[in-house]
Amino acid sequence: MGQEDGRLQPILDRFPRERHWLLPALHAVQHALGYLPGEALAATGAHLRVPASEVYGVATHYPEFRLTPRGRHTIRACTGVSCALLGGRALLDAVARRCRIEPGGTTADGEITLEAVDCFFECSAAPLLEIDGRYRGRVTPDDVPRLERWFGAPGAAGAVAPPTASPPVVAPALSATAALAVLVARAAERRRMRPALRLLVQTGTCGRAVGAEPLRDALRAALPARGAAGEVVEGACNGMCYAAPLCEVSRDGWPRLLVERLDPSLVPAFVDCLLTADRDFGSVPLGGVVWADAGWRGLTPVAAHPFWKRQERVLLARAGVIDPGELDDALLHGGYTALASALDGGPAAVIEQVKAAGLQGRGGAFFPTALKWQACRDAPGAPKYVVLNGEEGEPGIFKDRHLMEADPHLVLEGVLLAAYAAGASHAILYVHGEADLSAERLERAVAQAAAAGIVGERMFGRPVSCTVELRRGAGGFVLGEETALLESIEGRRALPRARPPFPVESGLWGKPTVINNVETLAAVPAIVSRGGGWFAGLGTAKAPGTKLFGLSGPLARPGVVEVRNGVTLRALLEEVGGGAPDGQALQGAVVGGPSGMIVPAALFDVPMEPRQRVSPGTGGIVAIPAEASVVEIVRTLLAFNASESCGKCTPCREGTPRLLGLLDELPAAADPAAVATRVRELGTAIRLASLCGLGQAAPQALLAGLETFAAAFVARPGPRSA
Ligand SMILES: Cc1cc2nc3c(=O)[nH]c(=O)nc-3n(C[C@H](O)[C@H](O)[C@H](O)COP(=O)(O)O)c2cc1C
Ligand code: SF4
Ligand code: FES
Repeated sequence: MGQEDGRLQPILDRFPRERHWLLPALHAVQHALGYLPGEALAATGAHLRVPASEVYGVATHYPEFRLTPRGRHTIRACTGVSCALLGGRALLDAVARRCRIEPGGTTADGEITLEAVDCFFECSAAPLLEIDGRYRGRVTPDDVPRLERWFGAPGAAGAVAPPTASPPVVAPALSATAALAVLVARAAERRRMRPALRLLVQTGTCGRAVGAEPLRDALRAALPARGAAGEVVEGACNGMCYAAPLCEVSRDGWPRLLVERLDPSLVPAFVDCLLTADRDFGSVPLGGVVWADAGWRGLTPVAAHPFWKRQERVLLARAGVIDPGELDDALLHGGYTALASALDGGPAAVIEQVKAAGLQGRGGAFFPTALKWQACRDAPGAPKYVVLNGEEGEPGIFKDRHLMEADPHLVLEGVLLAAYAAGASHAILYVHGEADLSAERLERAVAQAAAAGIVGERMFGRPVSCTVELRRGAGGFVLGEETALLESIEGRRALPRARPPFPVESGLWGKPTVINNVETLAAVPAIVSRGGGWFAGLGTAKAPGTKLFGLSGPLARPGVVEVRNGVTLRALLEEVGGGAPDGQALQGAVVGGPSGMIVPAALFDVPMEPRQRVSPGTGGIVAIPAEASVVEIVRTLLAFNASESCGKCTPCREGTPRLLGLLDELPAAADPAAVATRVRELGTAIRLASLCGLGQAAPQALLAGLETFAAAFVARPGPRSA
């Protein structure tokens, strides 16, 4: 390829000639050309006035940028812990045998490229393959001989339809609350024009990986064929990933209900149930949940449903219920009420409520959110920024994607509240480079909110402005670290900065900047609407509020759940998650991904609270079955950290691979106790001396594992099961 093929310059011309457009420009070029050839790098550098060496440095730093072409079809197999525990490695081996190539290779005819991946962040649908950009979940070895049927399908993310929002409300005379009431009234009016029967198919990324789209299409064909008036809407996952494909039914006079495991072959019988008075879903047989005091037509009442009865839905209240692509749906379910009342009440009241809520950052560091916002507000310098950290690049964690896909207006409302409280006039929504559906739904939400006058030069007609921009990452665990993320927005490699100064004093382009996790910000609308004290009371003193968890690994009910904070692992894994499908006791759980630790079953009854004996970390929990090798799991986590080290500081760059070497030496060591001592010493040094949280947490799983599962670490390794 060369510049002369004419595709490159028009792409580059879309970007202003400033360095901070480097990642978006490289993404756009790679999207058009399939990879980043040398000429494309040179042309990008010339256009953005960035030295060629630095363009090359950036392009080679981020794992999602490719400097060489792939085959015509790309198969990627996840070998992360959740997938590995459910046969992911065997799947990769089977695909490799079938294609006669090693992972990382391309067949001689250029037809297929095969890659191993650390996580697709859809762990609840494990094990997964990604074929030509589309995830396939719950894949079995039987699927391997028939992979071709998945070739060439369009990408997982659908086209973004134009927004259908209300016209802007910009009458400055109105209070924000009154302006919102006008929007809500118009939304209600439009809703009255639509069919009374609405089927919402949960087409989140997880649902799509296991057949939600064929279900959607079958329903769209079946309703008119039966002469029924109804609409079939694309929704998002409500967290019951294990029971996908799912369909939520709303119909005048019926309680809210949800039917699970709705295979397209069951659609005729399902539609029969919808159209025939008193026909039981249970007779089909279909199961599901009904939001009523007692069972209804064969469905289980929510208070008795094992997945639901322990949950406390605040942030996920609208997940799976609303159409995430419609502002009207959000408005009719209370969306933007908190923002409007905050705009009428002043920023100090927002900070006050967030403080009373005891809201601690959900990105893993548990920093008090109100303090961060106040510090930014008080810091000199303008403009100020708010950055939504939607990077979520830690294997085993997938709750932020669920929030962004399911309720983008909730996330946006949280971002706008943070901006208002912290005195920021610009917000950047930073979304993982492969989380296409999250990005699309957020982008659409922003466009709708702008069209409705909720965001922009004025918010709800008030003289408060906030612009919102979407940026995409390009892979790498360290990118989620807040200062690395700022570097990336500025167009550089994702290398963490030394602190102080902290971002609230000197962040993006040296200006005061608040960075918050998606879950943190998604909690704010409810806190402002219902009061900080109410939210705090949902958890414990050390862990206020609710907490989202992604449950994966061999469980009967993997998915995303929201529970009162301070929950125990037993409640999560056994009551909500249903325990191991074979009924055997679990031996432990990975809590918090590669930065977390393996918690043995003996600690399953300890409440999970930040910085206590069992910390919830970022909220990813992988069940470890009795027969799995804990050492292999620890090895996978440590190897991940070692390979993700950005290399900026020596303890992490040199120490983590060395730690891995010592772990491998242990079983054959003449003096295992001496090797274990060296592991502890080196691990402690890495923890204390590393510049950022990646290195600081990298030895944790191994150090904790050595304490708890000491015998396993010195025994000769058995067959690899994870
Ligand atoms: C290696 C590494 C990766 C991280 N990845 C994320 C991430 O994906 N999402 C996130 O919100 N925070 C991540 N963090 C934490 C951020 O640095 C930061 O603490 C967080 O975004 C602040 O938001 P919060 O206070 O709302 O948690 C990561 C930290 C480290 C050290
Ligand atoms: S601790 Fe590791 S990831 Fe963090 S700055 Fe140092 S080398 Fe980079
Ligand atoms: S998707 Fe495979 S481990 Fe996360």
